[in-house]
Amino acid sequence: MVQLDDTGIIRATGARRPYVIAKAAMSLDGRIATAGGESRWITGTEARLTGHELRRRADAIVVGAGTVIADDPALTARENGEVSHPLRVVLDSTARTSPGAAAFSRDGRGAVLATTAAAPETRLARFKERGVETLVLPADARGRLRLDELLPALHARGVATALVEGGGETLGAFHDADLIDEIWLFLAPIVIGGGRAAIHGAGAATLADAQRFAFDPPKTLGADVLFRGVRRERA
Ligand SMILES: NC(=O)c1ccc[n+]([C@@H]2O[C@H](COP(=O)([O-])OP(=O)(O)OC[C@H]3O[C@@H](n4cnc5c(N)ncnc54)[C@H](OP(=O)(O)O)[C@@H]3O)[C@@H](O)[C@H]2O)c1
Repeated sequence: MVQLDDTGIIRATGARRPYVIAKAAMSLDGRIATAGGESRWITGTEARLTGHELRRRADAIVVGAGTVIADDPALTARENGEVSHPLRVVLDSTARTSPGAAAFSRDGRGAVLATTAAAPETRLARFKERGVETLVLPADARGRLRLDELLPALHARGVATALVEGGGETLGAFHDADLIDEIWLFLAPIVIGGGRAAIHGAGAATLADAQRFAFDPPKTLGADVLFRGVRRERA
């Protein structure tokens, strides 16, 4: 089980960081989008409503640049007719997304562009003009911002729970870094084939190395099924 302190925050590598929930809406063959990037809507209304409930519980929603470019999601939480705007965090190492994207609206808790020193100052200035906080973080060997630097920075901004919504590369990076505390997988009765894997990245080298989650009994949501699991400590 995760080791929660009295504020519900787990301690990772000595640094305090948010509790990380990963979420994906996927086909039975583990795809979150077609090869052409179409993903709306894989799951039905009930699953999507549950996804909105989950967003309301999160202090921040994290997505990758690929999702912002492909879908331009607003990342709002809607429940009983009410719309709320959690903090939105976009992972974009070179600031290649558009500052006009819906995720960067000033509503509610606003937005953070998580980036690296490779992002041109002129690009960052455009985000700042829009009221977006630019968070320049160290890069990894591939030039991507380091998640182990991102999470303590979010924690310092009052984020106790971060919901990582994708896409596949982003979920894969969190998975490879062993940073997923809880996972919500919504499975739709559709087979897409090809397409985009829900959790990209290197993945487990062997089955014995696979990250284990303790899953609740599956929950039926209309035609879809939700698998919710909490990370189990490695033996
Ligand atoms: N069904 C669902 O639940 C769901 C949810 C979300 C998205 N989607 C679909 O997923 C597709 C997009 O997924 P995607 O995998 O192409 O893109 P993604 O995960 O949304 O974004 C990946 C990009 O994020 C940036 N990034 C920055 N730091 C990173 C880090 N540490 N690790 C990983 N990425 C980092 C990278 O761009 P830079 O190198 O430029 O920084 C990378 O190319 C779309 O088709 C969308 O519709 C489906």
